[in-house]
Amino acid sequence: MPDTHFGYETVDEAAKARRVRGVFDSVAPKYDVMNDLMSLGLHRAWKAYAVAVANARIGDRVLDIAGGTGDMARALAPRVGSRGLVIHSDINEAMLRQGRDRLLDEGLILPALICDAEALPFPSDAFDLVSVAFGLRNMTHKEKALDEMNRVTRPGGRLLVLEFSRVARPLAKAYDWYSFKLLPRLGAWVAGDADSYRYLAESIRLHPDQAELKAMMKSAGFGHVDVHNLSAGVVALHVGIKC
Ligand SMILES: C[S@@+](CC[C@H](N)C(=O)[O-])C[C@H]1O[C@@H](n2cnc3c(N)ncnc32)[C@H](O)[C@@H]1O
Repeated sequence: MPDTHFGYETVDEAAKARRVRGVFDSVAPKYDVMNDLMSLGLHRAWKAYAVAVANARIGDRVLDIAGGTGDMARALAPRVGSRGLVIHSDINEAMLRQGRDRLLDEGLILPALICDAEALPFPSDAFDLVSVAFGLRNMTHKEKALDEMNRVTRPGGRLLVLEFSRVARPLAKAYDWYSFKLLPRLGAWVAGDADSYRYLAESIRLHPDQAELKAMMKSAGFGHVDVHNLSAGVVALHVGIKC
């Protein structure tokens, strides 16, 4: 079996999928509070920006991949209205359940589906909009996942990839200190799990930067790709149009 990366470790592909599952099984109960804490609430603004750019319309069919605790699905649902459809999906049952319960508590009933982004159980051209927020980084075969996202997007439809990216150079040192020193400690204090947050920092460093991800999306069949840097490149929103 070919090797890949789990953070800075080299592992075989089956081990990577298993260990990513372990990370999200472990962080699921504290995922939302940790997200707020470690981004100082900024993840809300990044997601709100992505949803505004998505420009989903009444009646649109939307697939949220790696949807976790449901932030994107919750924000997109009112935009497509009762004539539209938002599917909240994730490969990890613990994360999906956490999200589904939270959405139900807020009175939102959306189809929730366990599925692997690398083998999506949908026909081709099924969605007007596909979104993946902070999920692509964790996938073993990113090209395969992007190919699948392209396949299920209708011609003229859009893919939104919101993901950590390459921070502007003047901030790099401070960002490294935060990621490798503070973040694992926060993870240990709040979630009792330093390792998962160390993985987070390492996986961000290994993720393709803005230009590389844009090229990957173009190779997957998104003829036009716009890149929006957020918070000096800590995060980037890539918007691809299937054309
Ligand atoms: C950091 S969380 C992001 C959750 C949510 N989208 C958010 O922004 O808060 C990453 C999610 O990616 C999911 N994931 C990892 N590999 C996946 C795959 N191959 N297919 C679908 N989801 C995957 C994990 O289970 C996890 O819930």
